[in-house]
Amino acid sequence: MNILLTGGAGYIGSHTAALLLREGHDVTLLDNLSNSDIGVLDRLHAISNREISFVQADIRETDVLERVLVGNHIDAVIHFAGLKAVGESVRLPIAYYDNNVNGTISLLRAMQATDVRTLVFSSSATVYGDPKYLPLDEKHPTGPTNPYGQTKLHIEEILRDVAASEPLWKIAILRYFNPVGAHDSGLLGENPNGIPNNLMPFVARVAAGKLPRVEIFGDDYDTADGTGVRDYIHVADLAAGHLAALGYLSRTPPGYEVFNLGTGQGYSVKEMIAAFAAASGRPIPSVVVGRRAGDIASCYADPTRARTLLGWEARLTLADMCASAWRFQSRLAES
Ligand code: NAD
Ligand code: UD1
Repeated sequence: MNILLTGGAGYIGSHTAALLLREGHDVTLLDNLSNSDIGVLDRLHAISNREISFVQADIRETDVLERVLVGNHIDAVIHFAGLKAVGESVRLPIAYYDNNVNGTISLLRAMQATDVRTLVFSSSATVYGDPKYLPLDEKHPTGPTNPYGQTKLHIEEILRDVAASEPLWKIAILRYFNPVGAHDSGLLGENPNGIPNNLMPFVARVAAGKLPRVEIFGDDYDTADGTGVRDYIHVADLAAGHLAALGYLSRTPPGYEVFNLGTGQGYSVKEMIAAFAAASGRPIPSVVVGRRAGDIASCYADPTRARTLLGWEARLTLADMCASAWRFQSRLAES
């Protein structure tokens, strides 16, 4: 298949591109490089030994999208492009709605105009808001607690209405839990600008000696060790989930489906730190500080639906997640 990956130069997009290339698909990456760099193309080439088609553009440029969809004979789109920082979205809601929601509308206009109607969308477990029960299945009520999450839910609703309006669309919504880890090669991974907001990249930098210690945001939650529990999923498993979703869409009638992509297993902050220390062989100093505003005690998936309908499940372990993230972190230090 010819697959367009919006936001394909980013963390999850680049790993998915590597897998799609390995599986013999042709990919076109379209990215405005607002949160990624062009160097990812060389690294994807080194991994795949394939030419990568890349377009530097913004998804709000509908005319560019139309040209790419037609010119590259695109069969399906995986829509990763978006802004994703929760705290920033609270400060800059207009930028988030414009980029994420208007950007998606632009993409949908271009797809409709060029008769490409197969779409996989990167959503997030953040659409569930505070869990009313665990594990979270897809029927759990939605109620995001920040503008970033709102943009994801609005986009899901737009896609549902679009699918209902014209019975040609094939749309899969993938609600990711907490993606972590890196490509086996050590060439692709997550390398946020500035001080990381998320646990895993922060821990990796402490292990590398670039930050002094991890601040554990609260140890008084109602969990086994008092620290927050999340469903961390290896980015390589997540990439495989996109391949499975494309396979599902190609063999089923048009429609709109929602899937959790998680492991179903939660790990605490303390367990994550210990696992990373074991994988890296480095000490990871930590200190318990107050809770982070907006955090919840526990969040993990019921991944049954993806297993049953997509034939997909996460395979990689916490040790795999930490070892690959450490390999990537170590390569960064060398380069
Ligand atoms: P990322 O920031 O690494 O990748 C997103 C890419 O989209 C970046 O390369 C960025 O430059 C590009 N982009 C942003 N706005 C664009 C625009 N208007 N036009 C063109 N390109 C644009 O993020 P990621 O972690 O790879 O996430 C991919 C998707 O998955 C996002 O939609 C994100 O919201 C979603 N998601 C991520 C996580 C996570 O923890 N990483 C969790 C749940 C959902
Ligand atoms: C956050 C976002 C979520 C997004 C996800 C991407 C919030 C409220 N939610 O989820 O929308 O989809 O990232 O992966 O920001 N922690 C520490 N110290 C740190 C960093 C984190 O103790 O320096 C703890 C947190 O309190 C939490 C766990 O580690 O218990 C995971 O945090 P994080 O990686 O930021 O992910 P989420 O908060 O689950």
